[in-house]
Amino acid sequence: MAATRVLVADDDPNIQRVLAFTLKQEGYEVLVASDGAQAVATARESRPELILMDVAMPVLDGYAATEQIRAGEEAGTHVPIILLSSGADAAQRVRGIRAGADDEIVKPFHPSELIARIRALVARSGDVAGPPQPERATFGRLCLFYGAKGGVGTTTIAINTGIALARDLKRRVGLIDANLQFGDHRVFLDLGLESASIVNAMSEVDLDLDLLRKLMVAHRSGLALLLAPTSPESADIVMERQRAQPDSLSRLLSLCRSAYDYTLVDMAKAIDDLNLQLFDEADVIFVVLNADLSCLKNVQLVLRTMDNLGYERSKVQLVLNRSNAYTGINIKNAESVLGRKIDHQVINEYRAAIGALNSGEPFMSSRPDGPLGKSVTEFARALDAELAAETAAAGA
Ligand SMILES: Nc1ncnc2c1ncn2[C@@H]1O[C@H](COP(=O)(O)OP(=O)(O)O)[C@@H](O)[C@H]1O
Ligand SMILES: [Mg+2]
Repeated sequence: MAATRVLVADDDPNIQRVLAFTLKQEGYEVLVASDGAQAVATARESRPELILMDVAMPVLDGYAATEQIRAGEEAGTHVPIILLSSGADAAQRVRGIRAGADDEIVKPFHPSELIARIRALVARSGDVAGPPQPERATFGRLCLFYGAKGGVGTTTIAINTGIALARDLKRRVGLIDANLQFGDHRVFLDLGLESASIVNAMSEVDLDLDLLRKLMVAHRSGLALLLAPTSPESADIVMERQRAQPDSLSRLLSLCRSAYDYTLVDMAKAIDDLNLQLFDEADVIFVVLNADLSCLKNVQLVLRTMDNLGYERSKVQLVLNRSNAYTGINIKNAESVLGRKIDHQVINEYRAAIGALNSGEPFMSSRPDGPLGKSVTEFARALDAELAAETAAAGA
């Protein structure tokens, strides 16, 4: 089999040398260009199977060169392009996606990471030959996870439920971290700081499905993630945008509905404009609680708020987490304090939960058959079954 041809476009001769050496060692054939215009010409004449493109180059920068290459491509052809940039700037990443790049890698990077990304892209571009498969319509269900207070396990349940829906029930699942200031999915899922976030999705004026898919991280657990920004200050950008243009959140959510069977949102505790709009647009709101007095007090407040907003009872469901932990308040007591039943329960297994958090691998990926994994799977199945029942009722 002929070696895969990779075009390296970078004006720095040292980087050219290092990349050429690394690639040749891995068995790739290497072509070199020293500016953007040369890259465009070489791409046209020599038809490489992948391009590594520095963003800052003379004559034409990497973005412009990528655009020109895409513009010159015949229908049905698509050479994978990886941009080499020098800072993990999300705006820059969006610019790259818009120009038509498939991936971006931030300098300095480890050769093994580069090789892994190249392999992934080459493998993917091999798959896309043939007519595109028509996708079936999605369930388009929007489910929120709202903690009655911090630390009750909202994030743990949102992430692991999502994985169960994806793995076990083969649903397409998008997960949004709407905890704008202190979102911690990157920690729970062992991700670096460089990927895009909800800030990008909310600030793009003409967000479409294609761009949204690229802003979301395809995680090995099976989830598509829209992450929270890496700095608390960026939260202001989203809040500002949401206030000035509530449409931008609606647009984001409706794109998610069209892309995923389930869009799960892990929310922050505040009752602010953003969260109120989320409540309004949701199909179901799972209020996560523990059986302690301060939680029960908060749940009462939340339920009253939901009543005032005029939501039907069935839109708001109570999920008692750590249900068998000793707190002195049992489920019956909790139900009588709240004047309604607890809809779902997830058991307590502190070691499994904290071990998973600290290792960056959710228990639903590493130990789906453990007691906690089974308990969350049961919740995910109930959630999915309820939708099936509703759909059947609507069709009847
Ligand atoms: N079912 C459970 N059993 C035991 N520990 C849990 C359970 N769910 C969550 N935890 C632990 O509780 C802590 C808070 O969880 P987290 O999901 O971050 O809560 P929140 O998002 O509500 O702040 C974490 O240490 C987590 O491991
Ligand atoms: Mg959380």
